[in-house]
Parts: sequence; structure tokens; C-alpha cells
Amino acid sequence: KVEAGEAEFQARIDADEFIEPKDFMPEAYRKTLVRQMSQHAHSEIVGMLPEGGWVTRAPTLKRKIILVAKVQDEAGHGLYIYSAAETLGTSREEMVSQLHSGKAKYSTIFNYPTTSWADVCTIGWLVDGAAITNQIPLCRCSYGPYARAMIRVCKEESFHMRQGYEGLLQMVKGTDEQRRMVQDSFDRWFWPSLMMFGPPDSDSAHSSQNMAWKIKRFSNDELRQRFVDATVPQAEFLGITLPEQVVWNEERGHYDYGDLDWDEFWAVVRGDGACSANRMDARNKALDDGAWVREAATAFAEKQRSRATM
Ligand code: ACO
Repeated sequence: KVEAGEAEFQARIDADEFIEPKDFMPEAYRKTLVRQMSQHAHSEIVGMLPEGGWVTRAPTLKRKIILVAKVQDEAGHGLYIYSAAETLGTSREEMVSQLHSGKAKYSTIFNYPTTSWADVCTIGWLVDGAAITNQIPLCRCSYGPYARAMIRVCKEESFHMRQGYEGLLQMVKGTDEQRRMVQDSFDRWFWPSLMMFGPPDSDSAHSSQNMAWKIKRFSNDELRQRFVDATVPQAEFLGITLPEQVVWNEERGHYDYGDLDWDEFWAVVRGDGACSANRMDARNKALDDGAWVREAATAFAEKQRSRATM
């Protein structure tokens, strides 16, 4: 019976139908979605930290307003994705506790430090740009609630990317010092942003099954290449000097970019990134500091309930 259910499920996937929360789904499909979606939601929430620290140091009021809006958007993205993941039967509390215990992952990119204002703009351009490249295909992923959440997320990410690029455009029109900041920022963020797409296809444990289930529409390496090809002309327009490994390959019709430092990637995945401990401390502190709000809200709800039944 289960086999018949699975065959029917795959037939629905092959026909490009969306799978909805109450529909039959193999347990492994549910599990990999909770894994990916919770990792994605955690990344949105932890992703507020590297830029959040710059809100009080933004160079102008306009930049501060934009940055506050952007960081707030990321919180919203985390909440949509947690809600979409909850439809699979895992509570947000459980997902958050897995993040805090170190069991659940979040994107490696958020474990790098933001040392200058140029980094805030570069994150918008490269990190949100990489996120869009990965997330636009997720708008057509087979799980309905995730696909629908991605539509709004992608629209907002696209605004984030433009504000970052526009910030850099202003900086490169400025002083030599500002241009140096832009170049230095690019040099530090370019390789980690390429790692956001995950390990090479040959080392990607989940890719083949998740592509058969149409959770993934393109492989890690395909999306990484798409991102490099789009990014190089944008970098050139800013006057950025690209690493020597980045070379146009006439035969392939794509930019080559050499090998990434996969040892660094796996070290950061394991929790050895420059800011890994700091990010987890900040999340744990936020949870502890908010305990009284949750207690007060629960007590208030109970009071309302007991009054209603009086
Ligand atoms: N950072 C941390 N862990 C990663 C990363 C990364 N950049 N890339 C891959 N991994 C982990 C995977 O989670 C997996 O570990 P697990 O089995 O313990 O869960 C392992 O490395 C092997 O990778 P894959 O088999 O390639 O994993 P998967 O098929 O899930 O592909 C990918 C990884 C591309 C990140 C996918 O999960 C995805 O598309 N996720 C949704 C997008 C997302 O999470 N974006 C977060 C950053 S964007 C932002 O927050 C603004």
C-alpha cells in the first residue's frame, strides 16, 4: 500500500503538482524538507546579526532607515519559513532548540565578520544575490507552502540586493579609501558567497533525491556557475579587480573560477567559523532576554481564558 502511495506521490511530482500539508508524502520527503527549511529559516534569523551591528553605525540617516528595513525583512523571512516548516509537523520551538543545541545548521556565510560599512553593502549585493539565485527556483519547489513563501522572500531579497549594489556604486564614486574598502570587502566575501550554494555536486548528499522530488530544480554547481556569470560583469562595472582564477572560458561559455577552499567550508559548517560562537551566544542571549515576554504573554492568555469561562 505504501509503495502504491509513493508511486502516486512521484507521479504527482513528475506532473509538477504541488504537494500540500495534508497530502500523502514519504517520511524521507518530510524529513529532508524540515531539515532544509529549518536550516533556511535559521539562516534568515542568524543572518540579521552580521548587519544588525551596523544599524547604529550607518553613515547617513537614509542608509540607517534602509538597513533597519532590510534587517527587519530578514526576521519576516525567518518567520514565514518557520511557519511553512511547521505545516510538516515540527514545532518552531523544536526547530529553534535544534539550532541552539548545535544540531541544526545555518548558512556558513553568516559566520564571517562584518568589519566595515562596505561589508554591509557587499552582503546585500553578493549574499542576497546568491540567496536569490538559489531561491528563485525554490518558488517552483514541489512543497506548496515553501514555494509560496519563497515568492515574497525573493521580491524582498531583490530589493536587498539592489540597495547593496547601489551603496557600493556610491562608494566607488567616492575617495580612494572608499574604493579600497569596496575591493577589500569583495576580496573577503566573494569566495564565502560561492560556498553558500553548498558542496560540489560530487559531495552533495541530498542533491540527487531532492532533485527527483523537485525540492531542488538545479544542482549546487549549476546555481554557483549562474551566480558567478551574473556577478563578474557587475563587479567589473564597479571597477573591482577579480581574483586571477576568474577567467572567461570561451568553449564553455561561462566564467571559470578555480577550486574553492572546501576545507574552510566544512570547518565553518562544523562550527569553526570566525563568528560561530558569537552568533550562537547572541541567539541564546535573545532567547533568555525574551523569556519574561513569553511568560507574561502566556500568563495574560491564561487570564483571558479563565475570565472567558467564568
Ligand atoms: N552552510 C551550511 N551548511 C551547508 C551549506 C551552507 N552553505 N551548504 C550545504 N550545507 C550542508 C547541508 O545542509 C547538508 O548537511 P545536512 O545533511 O547535515 O543537513 C550538507 O551540507 C550537504 O549538502 P547538500 O547535500 O548539498 O545539501 P542540500 O541538498 O540541502 O543543499 C542548499 C544545500 C543548497 C543550501 C539547500 O539546502 C538549499 O537550497 N537551502 C535553502 C536555501 C538556504 O538555506 N539559504 C540560506 C542562506 S540564504 C539567506 O539566508 C539569506
